[in-house]
Amino acid sequence: MTRYPLALRVIHWFTALMFIPMLAGGWFVIRPMSSSDPVKLDALMYHMAIGVFLVTLTLIRLVLRLRMAHPETEGLALWVQRAMYLCVVLMPASGFTMVFSARLNDIVFARNGAPLPVDMSAITGHFWHGATALALTLLIGLHIAGAIRDRQTLARMR
Ligand code: HEM
Ligand code: HEM
Repeated sequence: MTRYPLALRVIHWFTALMFIPMLAGGWFVIRPMSSSDPVKLDALMYHMAIGVFLVTLTLIRLVLRLRMAHPETEGLALWVQRAMYLCVVLMPASGFTMVFSARLNDIVFARNGAPLPVDMSAITGHFWHGATALALTLLIGLHIAGAIRDRQTLARMR
């Protein structure tokens, strides 16, 4: 087995291209936005919907990876991949903790007219969402550096 199966390659590159704007959008667009800004409701709606979609696709990829023959990865690269999958589970877990503890689904999706909490960072789960996003960013950095250094692994994902 010299390359990852087509389904894994397609999902990998599609999600890879979407995770980076999700992280950047979370920090540079959503986080600095005031809760009273009406655009924040739309920004959060897209953030949550795209987040759930991406996480679902990544979990489908994980199931496929467990069932299909694929090239073996060892050492640090393998641990980085496992840690990325763990982060991909923790992102929605902490995201949904925020949604349910502050009833964000009613505010953002049902648009019940209630205001967003003034201090979003005080919501249960916010700290863990941010901490997991930071860990995922560092892991993606390591992962990309590894792919640039070892061109053979890049060829397996092409
Ligand atoms: C692909 C997965 C996701 C990534 C990479 C991601 C990333 C981020 C980042 C970087 C932030 C800013 C963190 C901070 O303020 O410290 C953020 C905020 C947030 N995310 Fe996510 N997120 C993801 C999925 C989700 C999901 C599935 C939900 C909910 C169902 C969600 C709900 C939120 C909420 C409510 C905030 C707080 C916004 C604020 O501070 O005003 N996220 N996200
Ligand atoms: C543009 C940035 C990216 C590049 C250049 C890249 C490159 C690669 C390469 C070359 C491999 C094969 C590694 C091997 O065979 O050992 C791989 C596998 C993998 N990558 Fe990426 N990647 C990127 C973004 C991401 C992102 C954003 C994630 C997750 C959030 C991710 C998660 C994974 C995982 C889990 C694997 C293992 C194979 C699998 O389960 O599908 N990658 N990547």
